[in-house]
Amino acid sequence: MTQPAAQTISPSTEPPVAIDAALLRWFDRHGRHDLPWQHPRTAYRVWIAEIMLQQTQVTTVIGYFNAFLARFPDVEALAAADVDAVMHAWSGLGYYARARNMHAAAGRIIERHGGELPRDFDALLELPGIGQSTAGAIVAQVWGDWAPILDGNAKRVLARLAAIEDTPGTSRYDNRLWQLARAYTPEKRITDYTQAIMDLGATVCVRRNPRCDVCPLADGCQALAHGVQNAIPAPRKKRRKPVRTTHMALIVNEAGHILFEKRPPAGIWGGLWSLPEIPEASDVAAFCRQQLGIESSVDARLPAFRHVFTHFELDIHIIKLQATRATRIMEADMDWFDTAELPGVPAPVKRVVTDRQYEYEL
Ligand code: ADE
Repeated sequence: MTQPAAQTISPSTEPPVAIDAALLRWFDRHGRHDLPWQHPRTAYRVWIAEIMLQQTQVTTVIGYFNAFLARFPDVEALAAADVDAVMHAWSGLGYYARARNMHAAAGRIIERHGGELPRDFDALLELPGIGQSTAGAIVAQVWGDWAPILDGNAKRVLARLAAIEDTPGTSRYDNRLWQLARAYTPEKRITDYTQAIMDLGATVCVRRNPRCDVCPLADGCQALAHGVQNAIPAPRKKRRKPVRTTHMALIVNEAGHILFEKRPPAGIWGGLWSLPEIPEASDVAAFCRQQLGIESSVDARLPAFRHVFTHFELDIHIIKLQATRATRIMEADMDWFDTAELPGVPAPVKRVVTDRQYEYEL
């Protein structure tokens, strides 16, 4: 199908025609009613789910959510846990600042709110990791309080409804969408409305080839009326991401255990356990002896691979070494781990280690 050329549409100054009745009717039949955080829909469960859902799709979140809740069933358990254990439960979900913030927020909820998430939008907003949309999603879903939300799915629905052709990512664009979000959010059935707009965005008003033929809002959709639904939201301007390089030592001891080093709390993979980084031009075995206190010899250089972060890409070069003996007592932030019992390890490093890719390269 050829796409119509995008045309410029002047933004409507009319107040929007209500969408809640049609959207809720659709939601009753086609929305998601069996998400684990909906049963029971406690503040703690909804909070954890919303943080996980900030950057991750529902299908991925469900497994992590259930495991996380089994491990940390309430705010007390989360606040009392070692941040390492929280990072471990998070590893694989990415965007680890979310886990660190969540752990910090649990501490504050204990200190300032008697262990209960506050039923107050502004108090929620003050907690680490909770922004406008997440605070709105929590109060709307848990207590049925009025609040607009604007996650990625809701943004796409509203941008198409009003045919907003601006480039996403600008404050003008966001302000306009927040205006619409406030205007459309109804007084009644706020819990369902909130879930409904997210579900519509995730299942019908999808980014590519939206299913306008089954959309309950098709009649009032400005993007559809002008044939520009595929051009909205406009693609973000592609910035070339800078590419960085890192070299890491994969040191295996006689027991087949691998040396990991705990990364500092700030920066990439903050607080996770990773392979020790080594300077590019170093004599690797000498570096390991001097800096890590380990006698070893280089076995192999694994093929480099690229890992993509939000703001940059990282070329990872891994050098495998066989350790013959440790010449120093291990420091607190270094340890040997069996690949079957890894701590919280960044996903790309975990892949190399658990696939035992390093063994095939010998
Ligand atoms: N994205 C953010 N919150 C969500 C939710 N509760 N359901 C589906 N997608 C979401």
